[in-house]
Amino acid sequence: MFPTILAIESSCDDTSVAVLHNGKVLSNRVAGQAVHEQYGGVVPELASRAHQQNILPVADIALQEAGIKPENLDAIAFTGGPGLMGSLLVGTGFAKGLALALNKPLIAVDHMEAHVMAHFIDDPQPEFPFLCLVVSGGHTQLVYMPEPGVQEIIGKTRDDAAGEAFDKTAKLLGLPYPGGPLIDRYAANGDPHRFRFSTARLEGLDFSFSGLKTAILYFLQENLASQPDFIRENMPDICASVQHTIIHYLMERTREALRHKADVKSIGIAGGVSANSALRKALKELGEKIKLPVFIPDFQYCTDNAGMIAITAQYKYLRGEFTDSAFKPYTRQH
Ligand code: KG4
Ligand code: ZN
Repeated sequence: MFPTILAIESSCDDTSVAVLHNGKVLSNRVAGQAVHEQYGGVVPELASRAHQQNILPVADIALQEAGIKPENLDAIAFTGGPGLMGSLLVGTGFAKGLALALNKPLIAVDHMEAHVMAHFIDDPQPEFPFLCLVVSGGHTQLVYMPEPGVQEIIGKTRDDAAGEAFDKTAKLLGLPYPGGPLIDRYAANGDPHRFRFSTARLEGLDFSFSGLKTAILYFLQENLASQPDFIRENMPDICASVQHTIIHYLMERTREALRHKADVKSIGIAGGVSANSALRKALKELGEKIKLPVFIPDFQYCTDNAGMIAITAQYKYLRGEFTDSAFKPYTRQH
């Protein structure tokens, strides 16, 4: 029997609550926070305050939409980390209070593990071993999943995340936060080969994006010195070229990972950047070329959402992995 779970995600700037019942996500509500747009990035203090305002109404709507009464829940799940401490504390505190009031068990879920688990919400599901490229605003990593419940990080970024590369580029271009989706949109009408940027070639399977960020900064400064309207006149080509560089780099590292893990039976992407249309296309092309099935989550399960927390919690519940009420959230990946 599958448990009925209410899950909360509040690690960064989205407040999300999902209800899972009989192995299906019945509701997955997300309240975004427009308050950060003007600052070019998430302001932690404003994020936790907005979570506090949003969490109860979002939980209420999620339960109503699912048609589940609080007393019929089997467990309360929440994101334990990594993320912003203030934001995590709001979700953790809410989950603990609800669990105590309803006398239900608590399940803390790791946010990064949950991004990969988004692939196990709907059918068809990846075959094992599964290789998943996780690309979000805070992390970039290659995860090897030999069997259910086991995730090994075999490569990760040494500095910026792929999402940060998108967001920081967008900021240099004068676009609001989060810039990833806007770069994706402009890039659709641009030439990806017009401008060239180099990326770091590291030993092993790690990534580095900080050099790219600096290269883009110098490139823009140089061109703006002679052409003050350079950005405005070339926005689609700049976006398409930067996007192409990032994706080419991500795919090259993924291919390298496949050379290290020859037994992989399926590949996928997860995390906010997996909403990127060119990345989705590039992964499909890679899958066709190397003859491996490709898994790309539904848009609602790419960016931060409680659906992925709920599915991860379901498997933890079935394994009997519950969390003590003294649990403290963590900001960095374990
Ligand atoms: O997973 P996520 O929602 O939050 C974190 O855990 O960080 O990822 C957010 C990141 C942001 O950097 C955002 O710009 C990026 O995902 N993102 C995109 C797209 N949609 C979201 N990047 C590129 N293209 C997109 N379409
Ligand atoms: Zn995330």
